[in-house]
Amino acid sequence: METKRQKLVDNVRSAVASARDRREVLDVAIRLIDDFSPNFDWSGFYMMEGNQLVVASYIGPETPHTVIPLNNGICGAAASTKRSVVVDDVTSDPRFLACSITTRSEIVVPLMDGDTVLGEIDIDSNTPSFFTDDDRIMLEAVAAVVVAKLKEIEA
Ligand code: SME
Repeated sequence: METKRQKLVDNVRSAVASARDRREVLDVAIRLIDDFSPNFDWSGFYMMEGNQLVVASYIGPETPHTVIPLNNGICGAAASTKRSVVVDDVTSDPRFLACSITTRSEIVVPLMDGDTVLGEIDIDSNTPSFFTDDDRIMLEAVAAVVVAKLKEIEA
């Protein structure tokens, strides 16, 4: 990973180190993630509660999709397939649930604990095709850091 992306991963790791609870981990991490790019126009965590994704810490406009079942949305697709999903043009993806009418592209990266989905990182951009494979790799590394910290706290 090149320096600026590795730096985000390292910054998240050191920033969450002193967090005392789940809320603090997610708040601290999402602030750093959102600061990574001015083209991250909505950045948030959804966390699994029972069989649904529930919005947790986020930065951006209020979303009408505070609870998402696993068979719904791009968020549901990432959680049910346990794979990151990158959508270059949300306007041509029938799965897309709009938080904002200005959104053009989206990335969703699951928070995996082994084979279990704990939640996910969801980022929207108003720029078409904004998210690259390097972003996906970076966010998967951030997700691993967040999961490690959540497991430490919740052990
Ligand atoms: N776009 C997501 C819904 C979440 S909002 O963007 C914050 C989806 O299609 O699942």
